[in-house]
Amino acid sequence: MERTYVMCKPDAVQRGLVGEILKRFEQRGFQLLALELQHPTRERLEEHYGDLKSKPFFPALVEYMLSGPVVAMVFGGINAVKMGRVMVGETNPLASTPGSLRGDFSMVVGRNIVHASDAVESAEKEIALWFPNGVKNYTNPIIQQFVY
Ligand code: TYD
Repeated sequence: MERTYVMCKPDAVQRGLVGEILKRFEQRGFQLLALELQHPTRERLEEHYGDLKSKPFFPALVEYMLSGPVVAMVFGGINAVKMGRVMVGETNPLASTPGSLRGDFSMVVGRNIVHASDAVESAEKEIALWFPNGVKNYTNPIIQQFVY
C-alpha cells in the first residue's frame, strides 16, 4: 500500500480545521496509519523543507511553521501520494479549485493550511522524519473491500 505524509500546518490547528482535513481524507477512503500533534523543532522543519533552503521565502516559511503545533499524519491507499495532492490543491491557493482543501480554506501561499508529500520517495523520507519510531501497517477490511 502506498503511503503519504500529510500535515495540518499551524494555521489549520489554530483555525480548528484539523477535523475537517482528517474527515476529508477518511471519507475519500484513505487509511489512517498515524496521527500525532507535534511541536516541531526548527531542525526538523529545516530538514523537512531542505529542498527550499535557498528560496527567499524559506526563513518566513520556517517561522510560520514554528508558530504553533502541527498535526502529523500518515495515510495509506491506492496512489495515496497523487491522490493526497489532489485533495490538498495547488501550492498557491489562488490556483487551487474549490473542493480542494487549499481551495476551500486558504487565500495566500504563506498560510496554505496543509502539507501533502509530492512524490513516493519524499513521502517515505517525510514519514521517517516525523515518525522516527516507525509506523505500523494493519489490515482494514473495509478498505480492502474497496480495492476489489
Ligand atoms: P512547495 O514544496 O513548493 O509546495 P507544496 O507545499 O505545495 O508542496 O513549498 C512548500 C511551502 O513553502 C508551501 O506550501 C508554502 C511555502 N511557499 C511560500 O511561502 N512561497 C512560495 O512562493 C512557495 C513556492 C512556497
